[in-house]
Amino acid sequence: APKILYDCDTGIDDAMTLLYLASLVQAGQAELTAVGTVHGNIDPMTGALNTLRVLEAAGVPAGEPGPGGPVVPVAVGAARPMAQDVHYALDWHGTDGLGDTRLPEPAGRPVAEPAAAQIVRLARAMPGELTLLATGPLTNLGSALLLDGELPSLIREVVVMGGAFDHPGNITTHAEANIWHDPEAADLVFAADWPIVLVPLDATHPTAVHDDWLDGLAAHDTPVARFAANILEFYADAYTPTLKRRGAVIHDALAAMLIVDPDLGEYVQRPVRVELRGELTRGTTVWDARSLPAEDTRRPVKVAVGSDVARFQERLLSALLTF
Ligand code: BDR
Ligand code: CA
Repeated sequence: APKILYDCDTGIDDAMTLLYLASLVQAGQAELTAVGTVHGNIDPMTGALNTLRVLEAAGVPAGEPGPGGPVVPVAVGAARPMAQDVHYALDWHGTDGLGDTRLPEPAGRPVAEPAAAQIVRLARAMPGELTLLATGPLTNLGSALLLDGELPSLIREVVVMGGAFDHPGNITTHAEANIWHDPEAADLVFAADWPIVLVPLDATHPTAVHDDWLDGLAAHDTPVARFAANILEFYADAYTPTLKRRGAVIHDALAAMLIVDPDLGEYVQRPVRVELRGELTRGTTVWDARSLPAEDTRRPVKVAVGSDVARFQERLLSALLTF
């Protein structure tokens, strides 16, 4: 089972991903080694408290380790991007990051170690074993690369939700949120010599769930299903103008599912760069799609361009119904 360090900006679809990961842990299909949070949808301290809330709701003990057995450490990470101002996405995720559901304080507390240091320490402790799943801005991963130049050789795989290629952006015409929130950090991640799977809007947008799926979730009367239905209610309202009908794009969960079921995706292998200077295009992901010989010497990234949508939706729903 993959050992996953999850770096996120919890956030509604990040919260859905935590629930999905908790179901994998329950089924013995993944280990959740640690979580780190980053600015993005919300500030990283709120993101960490939200992470604790969601993991606790799913029955996964999390926070500062105590005497009562293993817990998932949750570290707070970068509060701002490397080279620009910070922006949150409260219109999409609510002022509490969880659709204004105002959950009570979690029982656990975040650990003192910063998220980037946690990545480096755990990578050193288990060389070649850790999968980094990143579904927020890439500031923590970029900072970890700056802390330890050998990091790429210590990581099994990096799976990132972010970017947009043939699909329009969701912040500017071409830029997707996770990359746009810290373009410098994202470019450091794509420049490093480690195996990357990138899951852009091209792959996530077609997975949008609509009323039938949401009703199937709402029909299930358990605390976790009710919580998921409530946060998605807020998210689906926010998404209606974009999708032109009620629905929700649970971007981050697709990236998580591709770790345990890579065959669910369709991929191309291309070097990826981030536009850092463009007046209209800063924060845009750019791939070299020309036929060979490729001029870009960067290690190609495995970019998901599509997925088995029905299987994704069916798996995610059944994962939520296991609680
Ligand atoms: C990404 O941006 C965030 O708002 C979501 O959580 C997701 O990670 C989609 O562009
Ligand atoms: Ca996210």
